Amino acid sequence: MTANIAHFNGELMPLDRIHISPLDRGFIFGDGVYEVIPVYQGVPLRGREHFERLQRSLDEIQLPNPHGVDEWMALVAALLAHHPGDQSVYIQVTRGVPPKRDHVIPKGLAPTVFMMCQPLSTPSREAVENGVACVTAPDFRWEKCHIKSTSLLGNVLARQVSVEAGATETILIRGGFVTEASSSNVFVVKDGVVAAPPRDHLILLGITYDLVTRLAGEGKVRLEIRPIAEAQLRAADEIWLSSSTKEVLAVTTLDGKPVGTGKPGPVFRRMHALYQEYKRKLAAGRTVAA
Ligand SMILES: Cc1ncc(COP(=O)(O)O)c(C=O)c1O
Repeated sequence: MTANIAHFNGELMPLDRIHISPLDRGFIFGDGVYEVIPVYQGVPLRGREHFERLQRSLDEIQLPNPHGVDEWMALVAALLAHHPGDQSVYIQVTRGVPPKRDHVIPKGLAPTVFMMCQPLSTPSREAVENGVACVTAPDFRWEKCHIKSTSLLGNVLARQVSVEAGATETILIRGGFVTEASSSNVFVVKDGVVAAPPRDHLILLGITYDLVTRLAGEGKVRLEIRPIAEAQLRAADEIWLSSSTKEVLAVTTLDGKPVGTGKPGPVFRRMHALYQEYKRKLAAGRTVAA
């Protein structure tokens, strides 16, 4: 079997040859940030936007960015040379390896940079055609969910709620309002109008969320960004999830009850078509406006 080539601190090497110190602040404190970029036929989807979000996450945790966007894109291209086809690129930057464990942020430490590829697994045809099940849970995470932090215990525990219910995702409610799901953003549709929760510190501003709002604008789909009350979630005609690997996916049962007709709705089918069209143009190398 050929080695799975990954990137570690400026070098390409087999994944199983990478060794990370137990003192790395990523290991000890979850002190790091990350990105996941979907790649279709060698072309990263909104790669620059992912690195702009990485910059915002790094700024929030006061960690200088080891690379500019162009450098990052070149590093991704070098890694992708070893991984043809559809991939998901994982990028992680941690605060590095200090001499001892101490909460205080050390000065002048070299960050640890790690990147790897995994084959991209997008939703099955069955999931697209029939939708998926979700459950709800209280959003018990911290209040800086806009940082794409590697400290994901809250998200892991939230996801586990749906694992145990045999569902695909856990939709989170904070103070009576929908925030997001454990690793996706959430949209609802009522009377043909899509609503998305506000772009604040209580959600990760998904690159896919952003793309969906742009595609809605171009495709003449009415979309509002506004708080979504739990009651509005439960009364929605359609519910969608979005993420870099889920793309746009319809939720057809919520807490065991059908959403709308219990089938993916017409506004979802329109958005899914717009998204697939966007991907096709990207892979064909045509200019993509959104
Ligand atoms: C908590 C959370 N919200 C939203 C998203 C969707 O973000 P994106 O569309 O950039 O993948 C993710 C992706 O992993 C996530 O972890």
